[in-house]
Amino acid sequence: MDYDIKDKELASEGKERIQWAEADMPVLRSIREEFSRRKPLEGIKIGACLHVTSETANLMITLKAGGADVRLCASNPLSTQDDVAASLVSDYGIPTFAIKGEDNNVYYDHINSVLDIRPNITMDDGADLVSMLHSKRRDLIENIIGGTEETTTGVIRLRSMEKSNVLLYPIIAVNEAKTKHFFDNRYGTGQSTIDGILRATNILLAGKKFVVVGYGWCGRGVAMRAKGMGADVIVLEINPLKAIEARMDGFNVMKNTEAAKTGDIFLSVTGNKNVIGEPILSSCKDRTIVANSGHFDAEIDLNYLKKNSKSVRTLKPMVQEYLMNDGRRIYVLAEGRLVNLGAAEGHPASVMDMSFANQALSAEYIVSLKNDGKSLEKKVYAVPEDIDKNIAELKLNSMGIEIDKLTPEQEEYLSSWHLGT
Ligand code: ADE
Repeated sequence: MDYDIKDKELASEGKERIQWAEADMPVLRSIREEFSRRKPLEGIKIGACLHVTSETANLMITLKAGGADVRLCASNPLSTQDDVAASLVSDYGIPTFAIKGEDNNVYYDHINSVLDIRPNITMDDGADLVSMLHSKRRDLIENIIGGTEETTTGVIRLRSMEKSNVLLYPIIAVNEAKTKHFFDNRYGTGQSTIDGILRATNILLAGKKFVVVGYGWCGRGVAMRAKGMGADVIVLEINPLKAIEARMDGFNVMKNTEAAKTGDIFLSVTGNKNVIGEPILSSCKDRTIVANSGHFDAEIDLNYLKKNSKSVRTLKPMVQEYLMNDGRRIYVLAEGRLVNLGAAEGHPASVMDMSFANQALSAEYIVSLKNDGKSLEKKVYAVPEDIDKNIAELKLNSMGIEIDKLTPEQEEYLSSWHLGT
């Protein structure tokens, strides 16, 4: 079997970790049992580019149980759990190409190794597989029946490809399922981002001015959790509606240059470029901490820091100190890459359970359409509503929660327009 990982000897630790995550993934477990019986992915090759974590391992094992031939590489050079990668190869026979800290060349070599199986389905987190296929490996596109995309940033890239008429196969935007972004983006990013910042720095959040850049689902989650730990939260937004929402949620809202004067920690979650840029970096306080939880490492203007600093040193793992020309020190966490996966372990299994249930069922959906002789257009699609609803019901059930149903009288009331005052 082909693979490229750090060390196979790490497999036993990785296996424990995969099983620990599995215990908190009841929805994915039930899909795995069903897949093992029905084998809906028999004969299908899946190329996956996802964060190589214990939760992703459970998804890969589920797809394989469904009959798929799976290959996996990392969707970020810093997010791989090397012991998990070792176990995937040694214990589960899943060809994995990922090493924590790999450089950009190795990162792209690994993407190419995954594409070498000539996949029928791509499973992306950030759209790097799609991007490589559309630029350098176009000959492989004829084999592809569809793809899935996990994250906001990837969906933005894919929608822009669709709009420019260059997208060559259909993609299901897993991120847009309610059972994905309501929970993974908000509670997952909220908790794991704080976890990454604390593991890297061990600072006390209580009493700190914590600046959240971007108030989408992820920003909402981070702001909520930082507040919960006693921080004084400031939100930066460019969207007036979201800015009002942040203010009414109880946060301070202001311009970046104002926040620069008081912020102790800046955290970006926008999917955009240089949002922690010159206006902040040129005037922030001595010993400001900056970190990013957006998908790409483009959100902090590292070029500005490099150009305007005398020296850079690694102070401790995941903390780099830039000594600026004017004597201020700015600390960058996890090299500006996703701090929740670089410095911590990413979102907890219990929330990835729903995200990855969407991935598994979306892959099955793509195959079932093909088997029924139907085809999707070369567009970005939402996850079918019945899949989303089914996952919500399974999750609620696994939590031991029962909820009420509409009475026939209430159903009738909701569906009629006759009844008024
Ligand atoms: N994205 C965020 N957290 C993750 C995790 N634990 N596994 C895979 N992808 C993730």
